[in-house]
Amino acid sequence: MAGLRLRSDSRDKMADAMPEFVHYEIRDQVAVLTVDNPPVNALSPGVAEAIDAAVERAAADPEARAVVLIGAGTTFVAGADIRFFETITAREASLERSHAIHARLRHIEDCPKPLVAAIHGTALGGGLEFAMACHYRVAAATAGVGQPEVSLGIIPGAGGTQRLPRLCGAPMALEMCTLGQHVPAARAATEGILDGVIEGDLLVGAMAFALEKSSSNGVRKSRDLNLKIAETGAALAACARTREGLKKTARGAHAPYAAVNAIEAGIRLGFDEGSRREIEIFADCVLSTESRAMVKLFFAEREVPKIPDVPKDTPALEIRTAAVVGAGTMGGGIAMNYANAGIPVLLKEVTQEALDSGLATIRRNYQSSVSKGKMTPEQLERTMVLITPTVTYEGFEKVDIVTEAVFENFDLKKATFTELGRVTRPDCILASNTSTLNIDEFAKSSSRPEKVIGTHFFSPANVMKLVEIVRGRETAKETIATCMKLARKLNKVGVLVGNCFGFVANRMIAYYMREAYLLLEEGARVEEIDAALVEFGMPVGPFAMQDIAGIDVGARIRQYLRSIGKERSEGPQCPVPDWLFEMGRYGQKTGAGWYRYDAGSRTPVVDPLIEGLANKAAAERGVDRRAISNDEIIARIMTALANEGANILEEGYALRAGDVDVIYVQGFGFPRHRGGPMFYADTVGLPVVLGRVREYRDRFGDYWTPAPLLERLAASGGTFYGWSAERRGIGA
Ligand code: 3HC
Ligand code: NAI
Repeated sequence: MAGLRLRSDSRDKMADAMPEFVHYEIRDQVAVLTVDNPPVNALSPGVAEAIDAAVERAAADPEARAVVLIGAGTTFVAGADIRFFETITAREASLERSHAIHARLRHIEDCPKPLVAAIHGTALGGGLEFAMACHYRVAAATAGVGQPEVSLGIIPGAGGTQRLPRLCGAPMALEMCTLGQHVPAARAATEGILDGVIEGDLLVGAMAFALEKSSSNGVRKSRDLNLKIAETGAALAACARTREGLKKTARGAHAPYAAVNAIEAGIRLGFDEGSRREIEIFADCVLSTESRAMVKLFFAEREVPKIPDVPKDTPALEIRTAAVVGAGTMGGGIAMNYANAGIPVLLKEVTQEALDSGLATIRRNYQSSVSKGKMTPEQLERTMVLITPTVTYEGFEKVDIVTEAVFENFDLKKATFTELGRVTRPDCILASNTSTLNIDEFAKSSSRPEKVIGTHFFSPANVMKLVEIVRGRETAKETIATCMKLARKLNKVGVLVGNCFGFVANRMIAYYMREAYLLLEEGARVEEIDAALVEFGMPVGPFAMQDIAGIDVGARIRQYLRSIGKERSEGPQCPVPDWLFEMGRYGQKTGAGWYRYDAGSRTPVVDPLIEGLANKAAAERGVDRRAISNDEIIARIMTALANEGANILEEGYALRAGDVDVIYVQGFGFPRHRGGPMFYADTVGLPVVLGRVREYRDRFGDYWTPAPLLERLAASGGTFYGWSAERRGIGA
């Protein structure tokens, strides 16, 4: 097999030093070009050039009647090399590179011999764009295709917005380019993106397909296809409809709109002019803060499982069976997670009544999935069978892990861990779902501290992706490795955090809520504060969020702290949430909280009672209520998050700024296009963030204290991400 580096005639020293990106081989009169750039065959510098050169060689090769382009390893080309985007700092550079790649794809498309892309794994972004520049595409039944650029804050930049609508029509192309989801092979074939799905050996099937096309002299260029967008009016209407829909789904993000603009340009102006517009729009996007944020998040999500002192090869226990203690809001959801992953789970309650109620909720949740067509009735029954209800500890001696989800009560949890230490095997992991309490205390009670860990699921536990994996002082590395692996098996994102009050998510959210409450007291209305945060990109504002989670949860934590003589650390407490709790207004579950809810409805209705309470609270603290702008609302709340995030980082309770951001994106729906609270602060500029903390301290008091790390980084011109890259560690 001959290797190809750059163009086949390139002989310079640099080219000789390049890895072999494309292997060239003649098999049964077909030139087989295998892209080989592990791990995902991304289009790193040199790869596109090597593919182009290989196609040119095949075109001139008398032994080749047709050409197949395939990927080595587990996938076809997964797209452009995302690391490269961060190096683009000037518009001119982006334009130049895009023009070159467009020209290269035209050159490939002009190959006189049938050129077939053979797709396994995924053809994503630039990978699909290369496949679309081939004359045909076939794929393994398990393969998928997609234009996921929008999830990186950009648009397809190598002709995707132009060739895709010509293959599958505007509505499907709009869907793919604005949502960025992967499309399975079967659907891609139905929609015209693929020309065939190959059962059996992909390469053999693709070669037969290519030879057949060579006999029928079939060369078909996607760029010349006009059929599916002949009805320009309908296609333009689809663009308008998509824009309208984005107002709800893409609040604050620009890339999805940019993708519609590029597709629309191609529909109105044709392939060549459309391509020129795509190149310009791509350049705008790739330089945007939105793209920088989403690229950072892409890599942050992939870094989260990398724990410096718990290497990849740390032995991990295989979790085959589990138990959950407590079948309330969280325990029920956690049991569903185990069952969904095919892991049999014991679900323990104190009374049969509580157990029946918990099981009924679980069944109702599954039933709702059946009604939405996400599950069949048979799957429901098969999954329910995996959950074994019990009111005793019988069977606990067989399980590999127990997740404790009883009330947030310190003594109860300690007693539960003592019991669990007794009734389970010595190698069984004991995990607590506590949101705030000190897991080292539970570890002591269990008499098996190395097996004790926190697995803090978010509500609703069967839906939310985040699990904070809380490392105790004596938690063994194997226990951590097992829980990180388990999180993936449960289809969750596990993020390792240290053991401090509230861990990372709730410790920071306490400051977020403090500012929301104080803003209310100072004059902003709950609906104004919520609307400002929603406009910023959050799925719900702080008050609506609390109505979902339950006002009682925070109130009970405050009660507990007072009972042990402790104060909340985050500063002055507005009394309104406690008043609501005393009134039995817990939020949606009681039909009223910060808002009112009509029977059977989850739509918040503004309740004038809240303004009355806010006035009373303001009067008690001697605050003159005033009008507050959206900018101030966002600045106050985001500054509170970043300042406490800086403390958490420096104290070592999160490994990296990226981990904090992943927690906020996965746990609270922080807008991806802003990156997360730490990246957002980096983009605002740390001197500006510090200036705000100091200004608020002067205006409101010493509870606004600049985090020392923020002060140092602001002074030295650093960023949270830069600092994290240099220093890693985690406290316990
Ligand atoms: N560029 C650079 N590195 C990439 C990459 C890419 N496009 N795709 C994946 N990687 C890296 C990951 O960072 C990871 O590195 P690590 O091992 O050092 O952490 C490694 O490859 C494996 O990735 P995953 O852990 O994500 O592997 P999975 O098997 O779970 O998933 C995948 C594979 C589905 C291909 C997934 O990696 C993915 O979705 N990648 C991104 C695909 C994408 O967004 N493509 C579009 C790029 S933009 C583009 O093409 C613009 C064009 O229009 C010009
Ligand atoms: P919940 O009140 O809905 O359920 C607790 C359940 O535990 C009750 O059904 C109770 O009967 C049961 N229980 C008490 N003692 C028991 C025992 N000895 N054996 C078996 N069952 C027992 O409480 P929720 O909201 O599910 O909270 C559980 C834990 O999860 C708490 O630690 C809480 O802080 C944490 N958490 C709660 C979140 C939420 O939004 N509700 C979010 C994340 C964590």
